[in-house]
This record gives sequence, structure tokens and C-alpha cells, in this order.
Amino acid sequence: MNKETVEKWIDDAIGEANFDEPILSAVRYVFSTGGKRLRPLMFIEAYNLGGGRIERPVIDFAVGIECLHQYTLIHDDLPCMDNDDLRRGKPSCHKKFGEATALLTGDALLNMAFSLMLKAATADPKAAEAAYKFSLLSGGAGVIGGQARELFSENIDREIEDIYRKKTCYLISASVLAGGIMGNLPKAALDGLEKYCLNFGFAFQIYDDLMDIAEKGSVPEKSFPYIYGIERSYEEIKIRTKKAIDALTMSGINSDFFVELALKMAGKRE
Ligand code: IPE
Ligand code: IPE
Ligand code: MG
Repeated sequence: MNKETVEKWIDDAIGEANFDEPILSAVRYVFSTGGKRLRPLMFIEAYNLGGGRIERPVIDFAVGIECLHQYTLIHDDLPCMDNDDLRRGKPSCHKKFGEATALLTGDALLNMAFSLMLKAATADPKAAEAAYKFSLLSGGAGVIGGQARELFSENIDREIEDIYRKKTCYLISASVLAGGIMGNLPKAALDGLEKYCLNFGFAFQIYDDLMDIAEKGSVPEKSFPYIYGIERSYEEIKIRTKKAIDALTMSGINSDFFVELALKMAGKRE
């Protein structure tokens, strides 16, 4: 699976969504600013491990995952949250369209995510199971809970691991587990993939923080690099990458994609 195919699925889904203005323009804008489409690609890879064919429910689910990811970023950038003017080097959604439109655009994408997942579930009962799991991991006890903890934590040193797991790793594991569930993978494989995601996600968030430092010249206060320093952060990325790859090996998962994805990040250094 390649990113271009995922982009085409996303474009088609937006074309059919019939959103009112200015939400439609804001959605198109947000998807036009770049982005790796990492989570749908990881979802598809997990699904492919089961050998199934890519059919409509899989496509709908993949697009839903990216919609939910984009909503988290739009809301994350708002002045009441991280107050970021830039996303991917371009004006963030609220900078371009105003706060009210950004708020509603995030809401619309969150709804679209679950509309697409429910549509998938009407055609494939496994998608219902995957969507339920996804809703829990992305909700108040998952991604949203992690963001809240980050905003209001009074003891960031002690909480950073929980916060990263929830705000970052859970969306990645929700995506990959959904692919594994829809692909009918056995429990041992799902457990291995989950372990991979929790370790990969942790390294991914540290790497994102390190890139923030490189871009902005300052260390985000509620981050692993702020608490432990740059050297230890690169060390942690290596440790987590090894744990992620070991989890695949130990559960018999044979995926060059997942191995290379983890290694790519661990090998980079700004
Ligand atoms: C950014 O995620 C948010 C984090 C969890 C660090 P990505 O780096 O996957 O975002 P895009 O969509 O590719 O820009
Ligand atoms: C983003 O965390 C995680 C979510 C939006 C759930 P960050 O705030 O660290 O990511 P960036 O740097 O804004 O992409
Ligand atoms: Mg942020």
C-alpha cells in the first residue's frame, strides 16, 4: 500500500461528505498541507498480514482513522490547547480559518471518522469490534485523557510515560489493532502488534519532540527531552525501537514495513 492510494481514498471520501462551508474548505486545506498518513498505512499493513483483500470496509476504516488523527491535531493546535500557529510549516487550521471554524472542522472530522467506521461495521462485523476498540483508545480514557493529563499535570516527571502512552501510542495501537482485528489475526499476533505500537509510539513522540526543538529552538516543557535531556532521548528512542522490533519477532510477525518504519526513526539524528 502506498500513500498516494490512501490520499485518493481520502479525496473521494471528502468529495462524498457533503460538508457545508466553511467546513469543507477547512477540511480540504488541512488535508492539503502534507502529513505522512502513517496510521492508515499501519492499519493496512496489519490487515494485510491476515492476507485479506482490500475491500470497501477496509478503505472506509482507513480513511476514518486519518480523519480522527486530523481532528486531534486541529484541536491540539487551538489557542486553548498548544496554541500553535503552524502545522507542517503552514498556518494551522485556526490561523487560516479562525477558531470557531477550526473547532467545528475538528468536530466534523471526528464525526466523519466514526460515520465511516460504522459504515464499515454494517458490512463487516469485525469492523464493529475494531471500531469499538478504536473509540475507547481514542476517547477520554485514551488519547483525549492523555492530552488532558498533559495540560493539567502537576508532576510531569512521574506522568510523562502515561501521557505519551495515551496521547500518542494509543492512536497508533488503535489503528494497528483495528487492522489486525479486521484481518482476523490470532490473539498472539494482536498482542505482539500492540507491544510494537506502544514502544514505537513512545519513540515516535520523543522524535517529534526532538524535531520541535530543532524547528523552534526551544524544548517543549512537558516532554521527555525536557525532563531527561537530548542524549538520553536519543538513547530512549533506540531502546524503544529494539523493544518494538523484538515484540514482532517474538510473536512471529513478519513485516518488513513495521521493522523499517521503526528503524528509520531510530537511525535519524538532527
Ligand atoms: C503528529 O503526528 C502528532 C504526534 C503524535 C507527534 P504525525 O507526525 O503522524 O502527523 P502528520 O499527519 O504526519 O503531520
Ligand atoms: C500531539 O502531541 C498528540 C495529539 C494531538 C493527540 P504534540 O502536541 O506533542 O504533537 P505536535 O508537536 O503538536 O504535532
Ligand atoms: Mg501540539
